[in-house]
Amino acid sequence: MSNESAIGVFDSGLGGLSAVRELKKLLPNENIIYFGDTGRVPYGSKSREIIRKYTAQDAKFLLSHGVKAILAACGTVSSNAMECIEAITDIPVFGVVEDAAREAYEASRTKRVGVIGTQATVNSGIFKRKIEERDAHAEVLQSACPLFVPLVEYGFTAEGDEITRLACERYLAPFRGEVDTLILGCTHFPILEKAISAALPGVTLINPASAAAKAMAKTLKEQDLLSAREKNGEIRYFVSDEPAHFAAEGKIFLGKDFEISAKKIEIDKF
Ligand code: DGL
Repeated sequence: MSNESAIGVFDSGLGGLSAVRELKKLLPNENIIYFGDTGRVPYGSKSREIIRKYTAQDAKFLLSHGVKAILAACGTVSSNAMECIEAITDIPVFGVVEDAAREAYEASRTKRVGVIGTQATVNSGIFKRKIEERDAHAEVLQSACPLFVPLVEYGFTAEGDEITRLACERYLAPFRGEVDTLILGCTHFPILEKAISAALPGVTLINPASAAAKAMAKTLKEQDLLSAREKNGEIRYFVSDEPAHFAAEGKIFLGKDFEISAKKIEIDKF
């Protein structure tokens, strides 16, 4: 492991690419290794035990590439299994909860904050806890939006998509008039930002991937772990199922200019 080692990022599928997009803006010269566990997505409807097992395997895969830091770009992993990564490595490890909770609290005028995420994230109650630790009088309303994950994985992301609009209406109605800030507690959700905003006009949306990328950039700088490379870093993508779908849908997150070519690996070996 050296400063020139890559940053490791993983998610159950495409969602973590929202963190890659943010990291590319902040640290364009860093190499990134991305793993999307597309063969086992979604994580959010699985038991804590399975999420923890998958997390350890995902982290071991990234560590096998000698990464210098890991970002668990997945709300489900961040809220249920961070210790499983911290137990097997000493490198800096980041999740998507801590900084998003702080940003949401600071952004909220009324201190009434909403959280959406997968079932496993909402069950963990972690965003609620983190905000209430800051302010016992803050009110946090949470709700799971499990259908958002397959909508993203299967590309129902075009502006004005009718199915996504209806899903947003159904899931987000309970937040209307109740909160002024909403944490998109799953990294798949920022890609639905416009549809979510249309269902909750005037509500400030907090993107956990961008909060985490900022925290990671800050720590790498403080710990003198940034690369001295003077040209753009490269991104290598790995998946646990058929790569073509990932490559096509990944462009929705990263933009058409990104050439995505992913390699399939056997994650069960880790
Ligand atoms: N992107 C993930 C998250 O942030 C996982 C969604 C899933 O696999 O259910 O929670």
